[in-house]
Amino acid sequence: MSPSHPFRVLIHRDEILRRIHELAREVRADFGDEPPLLVAVIEGARTFARHLQQSLALPVVVHEIRASSYGAGTTSSGLVALGPSDGLDVAGRRLVLIEDIVDTGRTIAALRELFLARGAVECRVASLLSKPSRRVVEVDIDYLGFEIPDEFVIGFGMDFAGRYREIGEVVVYDEGQAAAYGT
Ligand code: PRP
Repeated sequence: MSPSHPFRVLIHRDEILRRIHELAREVRADFGDEPPLLVAVIEGARTFARHLQQSLALPVVVHEIRASSYGAGTTSSGLVALGPSDGLDVAGRRLVLIEDIVDTGRTIAALRELFLARGAVECRVASLLSKPSRRVVEVDIDYLGFEIPDEFVIGFGMDFAGRYREIGEVVVYDEGQAAAYGT
């Protein structure tokens, strides 16, 4: 089947889904009968979180927290804005924060700090992607899908200025090719 977009595919959908199944198995093995509190960093992580939740096949809901650092650009501003949905009671809980991508590491570091300060006993990180070459803050990613080079990726929930989240695989954004994708 030919892709429904003009962009270069970095990670094909079947590869992504396979890897998510493996990660879910790791989470299940680590947490046993006491599933962790799952917290997805929206918007970007929604798609990954939904698939991870389904693969886990446990009675768990995914809570959401809003954090944004890119705004409408292609590089992280380093500013992390926490949204209003962060009133979650995490005291005494073990958490898995779910991210689509760890870039500078600032977002996930800020969120870990926040939840640990609120009494979470543990705050692990699951991220579909990581760009280690961009790291500013050191963070441990307990469940990592793929390491990728320093390219601006979209699709599988990830956007450029609010667009392209619907593309079903991880692709590389290109301005020239974007013109062929419609408005
Ligand atoms: C992206 C991504 C992470 C963050 C990673 O969010 O979803 O939350 O940037 O960057 P960092 O490691 O440099 O902090 P974005 O700001 O694009 O918001 P969005 O998820 O709503 O698209």
